[in-house]
Amino acid sequence: MTKIFISCALPYANGPCHLGHLRSTYIPADIYARYNRMAGNDVLMVCATDEHGTPIAVKAEQEGIPPIDVAKRYHDMIAEDIKSCDITLDNFTRTTDDMHTQISQDFFKYLYDEGLIYEQAIEQLYCENCNKFLPDRYVEGICPHCGADARGDHCEMCGRALDPVELEEPRCLTCGHTPVIKQTTQYFFKLSAFQKDLEEYIETNEKLPANVRNYARNWLKDGLTDWIFTRDMDWGIPVPLEGAEGKVLYVWAEAFLGYLSSAAQWSRKSGKAWEEYWDDYVVHFIGKDIIYHHALFWPAMLKGHGCKLPDDIFAGEFLSLEGRKMSTSKNWVVWVADFVKDFDSDLLRYYLTINAPLNKDTDFSWDEFQRRINDELADIIGNFLHRTFTFTKKFFDMKVPEYANPSQADLEFEAEIKALPDTVAACIEDMEFRDGLVEIERVTKLANKYFNDQEPWKAVKEDKQKAANCLYLSNQMCKALAVLLKPYIPRSADKICDILNISNDNSWDDANVFLETGHEISKAKPLFKKIEDEVIEAQKEKLYKNLESQEKEVEEVDHMDLITIDEFAKVEIRIGQIKECEKIKKSNKLLKTQIDIGDKTIQVIAGLGKRYAPEDLIGKKVPVVVNLQPAKLMGEESQGMIMATESAAILTPDDCEIGELLM
Ligand code: 2FM
Ligand code: ZN
Repeated sequence: MTKIFISCALPYANGPCHLGHLRSTYIPADIYARYNRMAGNDVLMVCATDEHGTPIAVKAEQEGIPPIDVAKRYHDMIAEDIKSCDITLDNFTRTTDDMHTQISQDFFKYLYDEGLIYEQAIEQLYCENCNKFLPDRYVEGICPHCGADARGDHCEMCGRALDPVELEEPRCLTCGHTPVIKQTTQYFFKLSAFQKDLEEYIETNEKLPANVRNYARNWLKDGLTDWIFTRDMDWGIPVPLEGAEGKVLYVWAEAFLGYLSSAAQWSRKSGKAWEEYWDDYVVHFIGKDIIYHHALFWPAMLKGHGCKLPDDIFAGEFLSLEGRKMSTSKNWVVWVADFVKDFDSDLLRYYLTINAPLNKDTDFSWDEFQRRINDELADIIGNFLHRTFTFTKKFFDMKVPEYANPSQADLEFEAEIKALPDTVAACIEDMEFRDGLVEIERVTKLANKYFNDQEPWKAVKEDKQKAANCLYLSNQMCKALAVLLKPYIPRSADKICDILNISNDNSWDDANVFLETGHEISKAKPLFKKIEDEVIEAQKEKLYKNLESQEKEVEEVDHMDLITIDEFAKVEIRIGQIKECEKIKKSNKLLKTQIDIGDKTIQVIAGLGKRYAPEDLIGKKVPVVVNLQPAKLMGEESQGMIMATESAAILTPDDCEIGELLM
């Protein structure tokens, strides 16, 4: 027996769960946990809500309530979402729990005392109006890489991680003021010191799946840099050092400890030692966006503390929705709570598992969901169960008939049933959850074929033993399904147990313990109802309504921005040639130019000085707006505008004649 420590990535307590969370993390973790319990291993599966960090603090500020109230609201919702999908966590706590605070502070202190955390003065953005530093999402501005609007530490458009001081035109999210750059002291974790250890961990740990190993290798290749571990803000766990007042642990410096604090809380309740599970075998289930953190930071932190490193890190890839990237801000999302109002959560567990292996991105589409439930769950599995139960009732008085003188077909089918538990077990142990389910379905298809070939409805009149053998084995197949489907679709598995009149608390080996002849089953109940087209249409309508209203808004905005051809015709753009160019004193950006526009020469003050030296521009042909009202810049009159890109690159129409009009 192995003791297995399973963790699910901690969801941020700033929103409820959507289908993506379930697909990447909770459903696979639960399949693995349930299987292992049934296989006789001792499992401890933990999770918690991740309640610190700027997203929650910012949300609270926007709502005018304390951050803890935001966290509590979403903690409760997430707990409900997880429960509604039958995820069997042994403990679910919060990172605002006292025990978590204590464990996180002790961990930090330990690393500090070991010399693995050091202080360093750095520059950060500071809002003089709010009197506070603006870490991460507290600031908005323009991404220096792609020019899109970006928030603090991350640009959604180009996907780059940013240091807020890099942002152009930064503004305080709270008050809109332009922040200043100010020095502050922060604590850094010596991640770079673990380069060698991590290389070895990534290369020698055979369990790590390819996606995790490859991502980690790429980052290691560039060399690791130390990692800032603290923030100047008041929402978070205080840095447990003298002189560090007003500083809290960076959320990623303590979130991982949620795995341990949740386990420790479980120990307090159960009286059992969680450490025994950690020391035996650890698997983290995460989404692929946090491989970096789990494959590098966390093992380094553990190593620094002298702890055993995780044995496996399983990273589920992304789920898109109807072919588009999910987006909570655009409401392009299906919330778990909404889904389970209309459908049994088993259907979700089934679809999200069967649709693609977890190491591939996949899509949730309502049509495909309907097709799989109707054609697979209902038509293959549901149909086989139903025909077995109704025939047993009709021809064998609800009792498992006698099995005698098996035919070749009987023996072959029996062998398939007996081989199934080991095959599915091997898939789940290899984290190939989809393959296990596909295998169950393959044998159920065979079972349907066997049933058709045996024609028990005819045989019962002509060769009753043949019919009896068919129903004997079919009932055994139903029992195997009741056991083997449990990790995947637990509610349905329990319903099958009910009909079979057996306990629903089975071990994996029970799949092969055949029901005895004479065992009485109960009346069949429908297990998987087909989903009607109208139901799917209604779901799609609900989802697309959000999109349409947004697209309409965008269209309207676009419309407002459009100008007529007549308006455009008012702008006179000519090709000019820069004849003279000099720097304007006291400005590092502005250049004073004299431009020949054909019939005359005009003076234009242009903001090109950061990019070009005056002598580079003399002689250049450029498009110039020549009918602008004159304006004064730094005391100099400007009579037009040189057309350039937003990064101040000039356009050089070398083939044009001076004075030519642009149409
Ligand atoms: O990315 C996230 O959603 C984080 N809240 C995950 C934390 S997982 C771990 F560190 F606990
Ligand atoms: Zn401010």
